[in-house]
Amino acid sequence: MKILVTGGLGFIGSHTVVELQKEGFDVVIIDDLSNAEEKVLDGILNITGKKPVFEQFDLRDKSKVENFFSRHTDIEGVIHFAASKAVGESVEKPLLYYENNLGVLTYLLQELSKKGKASLIFSSSCTVYGQADSMPITEDAPIKPAESPYGNTKQVGEEIIRDTCKVTPHLSAIALRYFNPIGAHPSVEIGELPVGVPQNLVPFITQTGIGMREQLSVYGDDYPTEDGTCIRDYIHVVDLAKAHVAALRRLVKDENGENYEVFNLGTGTGSSVLDVIKSFERVSGKKLNYKVVSRREGDVIEAYADTQKANTVLGWKAQSTLDEAMKSAWDWEQKIRN
Ligand code: WQD
Repeated sequence: MKILVTGGLGFIGSHTVVELQKEGFDVVIIDDLSNAEEKVLDGILNITGKKPVFEQFDLRDKSKVENFFSRHTDIEGVIHFAASKAVGESVEKPLLYYENNLGVLTYLLQELSKKGKASLIFSSSCTVYGQADSMPITEDAPIKPAESPYGNTKQVGEEIIRDTCKVTPHLSAIALRYFNPIGAHPSVEIGELPVGVPQNLVPFITQTGIGMREQLSVYGDDYPTEDGTCIRDYIHVVDLAKAHVAALRRLVKDENGENYEVFNLGTGTGSSVLDVIKSFERVSGKKLNYKVVSRREGDVIEAYADTQKANTVLGWKAQSTLDEAMKSAWDWEQKIRN
């Protein structure tokens, strides 16, 4: 079965391509390389022995999207990773985010709707919950008003898909709400390649550990949590990638009465910023240089997943511990910097 993976050379996309190929799927990647490098294809080839078909173009060009689908008529499913994802940037450039994250989604849905049967997996995010009222967070927790255009594109993206599925019975879709993806493939052939100064915690930690960054700033230790720092659900990117294959298998089997479902993807365990720092120190044997500074605007206090639904319905459960995920991130950092 041929699957299109948009953004397939990115962090989560490339790890998902590897798992799809291991499961025997034929993969075609579209990536505009705005936040990825073509050499990731070699990493995928080195892991699986199969180089995916790759086309580089901007999905915002509707005619190119139409032309692509007219040349690849045997694509039966799309896993849609390609999107802009910097929360801060989305505040400054909302129209870029609405065009890239929502305009493109409508083009893909238009193409899929023309097919006799099609599947779509959408990269969503726990950010749709904002600060949830209770932990762990279930899929029916209230959706809170988005705190950024980025977060809004995830909420509206889900609604666009839901509304399309209502009138397109032959289209089945799953939205996967990621918690905090971290780590790298154990082969150290692929991993996270942050562009510029990392906004996310773990790549900033590993870059500090390798000496690229002077010091980690911990954004606040005056939160109402055990050690005062924010709590998140850090999930190994390979576990996350495997969840996409489990979701695709469910769509392909088409057993579910619903043709639109949502799943939280996390480990079900919350870890504080200081827990993550300690994890790095354990796996690297290094002391991390950090200082506590003021809170970061927009951070929620606590977010970790109730994973029951994905565990039971998808038959998927995250396998890696925080230390295993952190070790894979550290191994990757050492490889790409040496
Ligand atoms: C985690 C914790 C920070 C950096 C974001 C997006 C979310 C998703 C995952 C795309 C927080 C603290 C961080 C640093 C720090 N992305 N931190 N110093 O904000 O939970 O989620 O990435 O889908 O949509 O919002 O992840 O890694 O930025 O922060 O203290 O230098 O680490 O305050 O508590 P976040 P993060």
